[in-house]
Amino acid sequence: MKKVLTYGTYDLLHVGHINILKKAKELGDYLIVGLSTDEFNAIKGKKSFYTYEQRKTILEAVKYVDLVIPEKTWEQKTDDVKKYNIDIFVMGDDWEGKFDFLKEYCEVKILPRTPDVSSTSARNYLDEAYKTLLKS
Ligand code: CTP
Repeated sequence: MKKVLTYGTYDLLHVGHINILKKAKELGDYLIVGLSTDEFNAIKGKKSFYTYEQRKTILEAVKYVDLVIPEKTWEQKTDDVKKYNIDIFVMGDDWEGKFDFLKEYCEVKILPRTPDVSSTSARNYLDEAYKTLLKS
């Protein structure tokens, strides 16, 4: 069985997320997603709209995802690859070159991002719509 691992925040699930999860699953038989916890996002200077538990519930309902594990630190990737016997590590091309150190343990595959969509733009859109509503 070929095991694939990827990481991310997956806030306000959008088509870019679904595209990468689908492609990642197609590379193997079992897809694990390391989902950034709220505490880890705070370290990254990020605040998601949905909590970790909500994002986990949503991701677990996606048919391409077999297991969701917490991503709590930058350093855990090597341990996760070994612990779960990962064959392929996948990330979108915004992370190109950042995880080459994992090539010692598994294949590292970088996939093209879906253009013109992100959780940040969706959060900004919601913020603006809310402000407009408050003014009216
Ligand atoms: N991703 C993608 N295409 C997009 C957005 C994200 O392929 N348009 C990929 C990322 O490269 C990553 C995974 O989806 O491998 C999870 O990314 P995440 O950071 O959660 O998504 P973003 O929408 O980029 O979130 P943010 O705007 O908060 O950075």
